[in-house]
Amino acid sequence: MADTDDLREARDFAGPRTTTAGGFHVKGAQAQDWGLQNRLSRIFRRDTGRTVMLAFDHGYFLGPMAGLERLDATIAPLVPDADAIMMTRGALRTSIPPHSEAGIVLRASGGPSVLRDLSDEHLALDIEDAVRLNAAALAIQVFIGAEHESRSVRNLAALVDAGQRHGIAVLGVTAVGKDMVRDARYFRLATRISAEMGAHVVKTYYVEQGFETVTAGCPVPIIVAGGKKLPELDALTMAYRSIQEGAAGVDMGRNIFQSEHPAAMLAAVRAVVHDQVKPEEAYELFRGLAADSASA
Ligand code: 5RP
Repeated sequence: MADTDDLREARDFAGPRTTTAGGFHVKGAQAQDWGLQNRLSRIFRRDTGRTVMLAFDHGYFLGPMAGLERLDATIAPLVPDADAIMMTRGALRTSIPPHSEAGIVLRASGGPSVLRDLSDEHLALDIEDAVRLNAAALAIQVFIGAEHESRSVRNLAALVDAGQRHGIAVLGVTAVGKDMVRDARYFRLATRISAEMGAHVVKTYYVEQGFETVTAGCPVPIIVAGGKKLPELDALTMAYRSIQEGAAGVDMGRNIFQSEHPAAMLAAVRAVVHDQVKPEEAYELFRGLAADSASA
Protein backbone atom coordinates (compact mmCIF):
# COMPACT_ATOMS: atom_id res chain seq x y z
CA MET A 1 0.00 0.00 0.00
CA ALA A 2 1.29 3.49 -0.84
CA ASP A 3 2.35 5.34 2.27
CA THR A 4 -0.04 8.09 3.30
CA ASP A 5 2.44 10.74 4.40
CA ASP A 6 2.50 13.96 2.39
CA LEU A 7 -0.64 13.14 0.40
CA ARG A 8 -1.18 15.88 -2.14
CA GLU A 9 -4.59 17.20 -2.98
CA ALA A 10 -5.81 16.24 -6.47
CA ARG A 11 -6.05 19.34 -8.65
CA ASP A 12 -5.70 18.75 -12.40
CA PHE A 13 -8.96 17.24 -13.66
CA ALA A 14 -8.44 18.43 -17.24
CA GLY A 15 -12.05 19.50 -17.70
CA PRO A 16 -15.20 17.41 -17.79
CA ARG A 17 -15.12 13.87 -19.12
CA THR A 18 -18.56 12.76 -20.17
CA THR A 19 -18.01 10.45 -23.14
CA THR A 20 -16.02 7.32 -23.66
CA ALA A 21 -13.50 6.02 -26.07
CA GLY A 22 -14.97 3.25 -28.21
CA GLY A 23 -18.22 4.97 -29.05
CA PHE A 24 -20.38 3.48 -26.29
CA HIS A 25 -22.62 6.09 -24.72
CA VAL A 26 -22.01 5.18 -21.08
CA LYS A 27 -18.78 6.51 -19.61
CA GLY A 28 -16.23 3.86 -18.62
CA ALA A 29 -18.22 0.94 -20.04
CA GLN A 30 -16.62 0.74 -23.48
CA ALA A 31 -14.75 -2.46 -22.59
CA GLN A 32 -17.66 -4.26 -20.92
CA ASP A 33 -19.37 -7.30 -22.40
CA TRP A 34 -22.40 -7.03 -24.70
CA GLY A 35 -24.91 -8.03 -22.03
CA LEU A 36 -23.69 -5.47 -19.54
CA GLN A 37 -23.64 -2.73 -22.18
CA ASN A 38 -27.15 -3.74 -23.21
CA ARG A 39 -28.34 -3.47 -19.61
CA LEU A 40 -26.67 -0.09 -19.15
CA SER A 41 -28.51 0.99 -22.31
CA ARG A 42 -31.78 0.21 -20.55
CA ILE A 43 -30.80 2.84 -17.98
CA PHE A 44 -28.96 5.50 -20.02
CA ARG A 45 -30.64 6.78 -23.17
CA ARG A 46 -28.47 6.34 -26.23
CA ASP A 47 -29.40 9.72 -27.72
CA THR A 48 -28.46 11.81 -24.66
CA GLY A 49 -26.24 9.43 -22.69
CA ARG A 50 -28.25 10.40 -19.60
CA THR A 51 -30.94 8.98 -17.36
CA VAL A 52 -33.87 10.00 -15.22
CA MET A 53 -34.08 7.28 -12.59
CA LEU A 54 -37.03 7.31 -10.23
CA ALA A 55 -35.93 6.15 -6.75
CA PHE A 56 -38.49 4.67 -4.38
CA ASP A 57 -36.42 2.18 -2.39
CA HIS A 58 -36.62 4.28 0.79
CA GLY A 59 -38.92 1.77 2.53
CA TYR A 60 -36.05 -0.70 2.88
CA PHE A 61 -34.92 1.15 5.99
CA LEU A 62 -37.58 3.86 6.53
CA GLY A 63 -40.85 2.00 6.12
CA PRO A 64 -43.82 3.71 4.45
CA MET A 65 -42.69 7.34 4.19
CA ALA A 66 -44.77 10.22 2.77
CA GLY A 67 -45.49 9.62 -0.91
CA LEU A 68 -44.67 5.91 -0.69
CA GLU A 69 -47.64 4.75 1.38
CA ARG A 70 -49.18 2.96 -1.62
CA LEU A 71 -46.62 2.19 -4.31
CA ASP A 72 -49.28 0.71 -6.58
CA ALA A 73 -51.37 3.89 -6.46
CA THR A 74 -48.75 6.65 -6.50
CA ILE A 75 -45.58 5.23 -8.04
CA ALA A 76 -46.77 2.71 -10.66
CA PRO A 77 -48.44 5.44 -12.78
CA LEU A 78 -45.11 7.35 -12.94
CA VAL A 79 -43.04 4.41 -14.15
CA PRO A 80 -43.74 4.80 -17.91
CA ASP A 81 -42.13 8.25 -17.77
CA ALA A 82 -38.94 7.17 -16.03
CA ASP A 83 -35.92 5.82 -17.91
CA ALA A 84 -35.10 3.57 -14.97
CA ILE A 85 -36.60 2.74 -11.60
CA MET A 86 -34.77 1.95 -8.38
CA MET A 87 -36.54 -0.12 -5.74
CA THR A 88 -36.44 -3.28 -3.66
CA ARG A 89 -37.47 -6.63 -5.10
CA GLY A 90 -40.45 -6.59 -2.74
CA ALA A 91 -41.68 -3.31 -4.18
CA LEU A 92 -41.09 -4.51 -7.73
CA ARG A 93 -42.90 -7.82 -7.39
CA THR A 94 -45.85 -6.47 -5.44
CA SER A 95 -46.50 -3.09 -7.01
CA ILE A 96 -44.96 -2.55 -10.45
CA PRO A 97 -46.56 -4.02 -13.59
CA PRO A 98 -44.29 -6.57 -15.31
CA HIS A 99 -44.88 -4.99 -18.72
CA SER A 100 -42.97 -1.86 -17.56
CA GLU A 101 -40.17 -0.87 -19.90
CA ALA A 102 -38.02 1.16 -17.49
CA GLY A 103 -34.58 -0.25 -16.64
CA ILE A 104 -34.79 -2.18 -13.38
CA VAL A 105 -32.31 -1.12 -10.68
CA LEU A 106 -32.71 -3.39 -7.69
CA ARG A 107 -31.73 -2.52 -4.15
CA ALA A 108 -29.27 -5.26 -3.17
CA SER A 109 -28.23 -4.24 0.35
CA GLY A 110 -30.07 -3.97 3.62
CA GLY A 111 -30.05 -4.81 7.31
CA PRO A 112 -30.45 -1.94 9.74
CA SER A 113 -33.58 0.18 10.01
CA VAL A 114 -33.49 3.92 10.62
CA LEU A 115 -33.49 3.07 14.35
CA ARG A 116 -29.96 1.60 14.15
CA ASP A 117 -26.53 2.33 12.63
CA LEU A 118 -27.34 2.52 8.93
CA SER A 119 -23.82 1.60 7.88
CA ASP A 120 -24.29 -1.90 9.32
CA GLU A 121 -25.51 -3.26 5.96
CA HIS A 122 -25.15 -6.65 4.31
CA LEU A 123 -25.79 -7.96 0.85
CA ALA A 124 -29.49 -8.76 0.80
CA LEU A 125 -30.18 -10.19 -2.64
CA ASP A 126 -29.07 -13.29 -4.51
CA ILE A 127 -27.81 -12.67 -8.03
CA GLU A 128 -30.13 -15.44 -9.30
CA ASP A 129 -33.14 -13.48 -8.17
CA ALA A 130 -31.77 -10.38 -9.89
CA VAL A 131 -31.55 -12.37 -13.14
CA ARG A 132 -35.10 -13.67 -12.58
CA LEU A 133 -36.30 -10.07 -12.17
CA ASN A 134 -34.49 -8.94 -15.32
CA ALA A 135 -32.41 -6.40 -13.40
CA ALA A 136 -30.30 -3.98 -15.41
CA ALA A 137 -28.37 -2.94 -12.31
CA LEU A 138 -28.02 -3.65 -8.60
CA ALA A 139 -27.75 -0.83 -6.07
CA ILE A 140 -25.69 -0.94 -2.92
CA GLN A 141 -24.77 1.66 -0.26
CA VAL A 142 -21.10 2.50 0.27
CA PHE A 143 -20.38 4.11 3.65
CA ILE A 144 -17.01 5.82 3.30
CA GLY A 145 -15.79 7.10 6.67
CA ALA A 146 -18.54 5.35 8.64
CA GLU A 147 -18.33 2.62 11.27
CA HIS A 148 -18.84 -0.20 8.76
CA GLU A 149 -16.97 1.37 5.83
CA SER A 150 -14.83 -1.67 5.22
CA ARG A 151 -17.73 -4.15 5.12
CA SER A 152 -19.70 -1.91 2.79
CA VAL A 153 -16.76 -1.79 0.36
CA ARG A 154 -16.47 -5.56 0.58
CA ASN A 155 -20.22 -5.86 -0.09
CA LEU A 156 -19.74 -3.69 -3.18
CA ALA A 157 -16.83 -5.80 -4.42
CA ALA A 158 -18.80 -9.03 -3.94
CA LEU A 159 -21.75 -7.59 -5.81
CA VAL A 160 -19.50 -6.44 -8.66
CA ASP A 161 -18.07 -9.98 -8.90
CA ALA A 162 -21.58 -11.42 -9.15
CA GLY A 163 -22.69 -8.67 -11.54
CA GLN A 164 -19.72 -9.19 -13.87
CA ARG A 165 -20.45 -12.93 -13.96
CA HIS A 166 -23.99 -12.26 -15.15
CA GLY A 167 -23.56 -9.02 -17.10
CA ILE A 168 -25.52 -6.97 -14.57
CA ALA A 169 -24.29 -3.48 -13.68
CA VAL A 170 -23.71 -2.24 -10.13
CA LEU A 171 -24.72 1.17 -8.84
CA GLY A 172 -22.63 2.31 -5.86
CA VAL A 173 -24.67 4.67 -3.70
CA THR A 174 -22.65 7.17 -1.67
CA ALA A 175 -24.17 7.08 1.80
CA VAL A 176 -23.23 10.06 3.95
CA GLY A 177 -23.37 9.76 7.72
CA LYS A 178 -24.89 12.64 9.72
CA ASP A 179 -21.49 13.75 11.05
CA MET A 180 -19.74 13.71 7.65
CA VAL A 181 -18.92 16.95 5.80
CA ARG A 182 -20.77 17.00 2.47
CA ASP A 183 -18.19 18.69 0.29
CA ALA A 184 -16.48 18.00 -3.03
CA ARG A 185 -13.43 16.57 -1.29
CA TYR A 186 -15.50 13.93 0.49
CA PHE A 187 -17.53 13.09 -2.61
CA ARG A 188 -14.39 12.81 -4.77
CA LEU A 189 -13.06 10.27 -2.28
CA ALA A 190 -16.29 8.28 -1.93
CA THR A 191 -17.23 8.19 -5.62
CA ARG A 192 -13.75 7.33 -6.79
CA ILE A 193 -13.46 4.45 -4.30
CA SER A 194 -16.77 3.01 -5.56
CA ALA A 195 -15.64 3.23 -9.19
CA GLU A 196 -12.21 1.78 -8.44
CA MET A 197 -13.88 -1.14 -6.65
CA GLY A 198 -15.80 -1.84 -9.85
CA ALA A 199 -19.12 0.03 -9.64
CA HIS A 200 -20.41 0.77 -13.15
CA VAL A 201 -22.43 3.81 -12.04
CA VAL A 202 -22.09 5.92 -8.90
CA LYS A 203 -24.78 7.90 -7.18
CA THR A 204 -23.91 10.88 -5.03
CA TYR A 205 -25.17 14.26 -3.86
CA TYR A 206 -24.69 17.56 -5.62
CA VAL A 207 -22.48 20.18 -3.97
CA GLU A 208 -22.35 23.79 -5.07
CA GLN A 209 -18.56 24.11 -4.88
CA GLY A 210 -16.38 21.87 -7.02
CA PHE A 211 -18.95 19.35 -8.20
CA GLU A 212 -17.26 19.27 -11.63
CA THR A 213 -14.16 17.80 -9.96
CA VAL A 214 -16.31 15.00 -8.52
CA THR A 215 -17.66 14.05 -11.95
CA ALA A 216 -14.29 14.49 -13.67
CA GLY A 217 -12.47 12.35 -11.12
CA CYS A 218 -14.90 9.47 -11.38
CA PRO A 219 -14.32 7.21 -14.40
CA VAL A 220 -17.95 6.00 -14.53
CA PRO A 221 -21.19 8.01 -14.76
CA ILE A 222 -22.30 9.96 -11.72
CA ILE A 223 -26.01 10.28 -11.09
CA VAL A 224 -27.32 12.70 -8.50
CA ALA A 225 -29.65 11.91 -5.61
CA GLY A 226 -32.46 14.38 -5.06
CA GLY A 227 -32.23 14.39 -1.28
CA LYS A 228 -34.85 15.97 0.96
CA LYS A 229 -37.90 17.64 -0.60
CA LEU A 230 -37.12 21.13 -1.91
CA PRO A 231 -39.35 23.68 -3.63
CA GLU A 232 -39.69 22.50 -7.25
CA LEU A 233 -37.63 25.33 -8.77
CA ASP A 234 -34.76 24.59 -6.37
CA ALA A 235 -34.82 20.88 -7.20
CA LEU A 236 -34.84 21.65 -10.93
CA THR A 237 -31.95 24.08 -10.46
CA MET A 238 -29.95 21.41 -8.65
CA ALA A 239 -30.66 18.91 -11.44
CA TYR A 240 -29.68 21.46 -14.09
CA ARG A 241 -26.40 22.37 -12.40
CA SER A 242 -25.57 18.70 -11.86
CA ILE A 243 -25.95 17.99 -15.57
CA GLN A 244 -24.03 21.09 -16.63
CA GLU A 245 -21.21 20.05 -14.27
CA GLY A 246 -20.87 16.56 -15.69
CA ALA A 247 -23.51 14.32 -14.08
CA ALA A 248 -25.11 11.73 -16.35
CA GLY A 249 -28.53 12.05 -14.80
CA VAL A 250 -30.49 12.00 -11.60
CA ASP A 251 -31.76 9.28 -9.32
CA MET A 252 -34.53 11.28 -7.72
CA GLY A 253 -37.12 10.22 -5.20
CA ARG A 254 -38.71 12.64 -2.73
CA ASN A 255 -38.44 15.67 -5.00
CA ILE A 256 -40.71 13.81 -7.41
CA PHE A 257 -43.03 11.65 -5.35
CA GLN A 258 -43.48 14.20 -2.54
CA SER A 259 -44.37 16.97 -4.99
CA GLU A 260 -48.06 17.92 -5.08
CA HIS A 261 -47.82 17.05 -8.79
CA PRO A 262 -45.38 14.14 -9.21
CA ALA A 263 -46.07 13.51 -12.91
CA ALA A 264 -45.56 17.18 -13.77
CA MET A 265 -42.35 17.25 -11.75
CA LEU A 266 -41.06 14.11 -13.46
CA ALA A 267 -41.72 15.71 -16.87
CA ALA A 268 -39.89 18.88 -15.82
CA VAL A 269 -36.90 16.87 -14.57
CA ARG A 270 -36.82 15.00 -17.89
CA ALA A 271 -36.71 18.31 -19.76
CA VAL A 272 -33.73 19.44 -17.67
CA VAL A 273 -31.82 16.16 -17.94
CA HIS A 274 -32.46 15.20 -21.55
CA ASP A 275 -33.15 18.53 -23.27
CA GLN A 276 -30.96 20.67 -21.01
CA VAL A 277 -33.86 23.07 -20.55
CA LYS A 278 -33.01 25.86 -18.09
CA PRO A 279 -34.54 25.50 -14.60
CA GLU A 280 -36.90 28.50 -14.94
CA GLU A 281 -38.30 27.14 -18.21
CA ALA A 282 -38.65 23.66 -16.72
CA TYR A 283 -40.46 25.19 -13.76
CA GLU A 284 -42.94 26.86 -16.14
CA LEU A 285 -43.47 23.47 -17.77
CA PHE A 286 -44.09 22.01 -14.31
CA ARG A 287 -46.62 24.73 -13.46
CA GLY A 288 -48.47 24.30 -16.74
CA LEU A 289 -48.70 20.51 -16.41
CA ALA A 290 -49.70 20.85 -12.74
CA ALA A 291 -52.48 23.29 -13.65
CA ASP A 292 -53.71 20.93 -16.41
CA SER A 293 -53.79 17.97 -14.04
CA ALA A 294 -55.63 20.02 -11.36
CA SER A 295 -58.32 21.03 -13.85
CA ALA A 296 -58.72 17.56 -15.42
C1 5RP B 1 -31.77 5.43 -0.23
C2 5RP B 1 -31.48 5.91 -1.60
C3 5RP B 1 -32.53 6.73 -2.24
O1 5RP B 1 -33.01 6.00 -3.30
C4 5RP B 1 -31.97 8.03 -2.68
O2 5RP B 1 -31.56 8.79 -1.59
C5 5RP B 1 -32.83 8.82 -3.70
O3 5RP B 1 -33.89 9.33 -3.16
P1 5RP B 1 -34.02 10.86 -2.77
O4 5RP B 1 -34.02 11.63 -4.07
O5 5RP B 1 -35.33 10.91 -2.07
O6 5RP B 1 -32.84 11.25 -1.92
O7 5RP B 1 -30.47 5.63 -2.18
O8 5RP B 1 -30.63 5.17 0.43
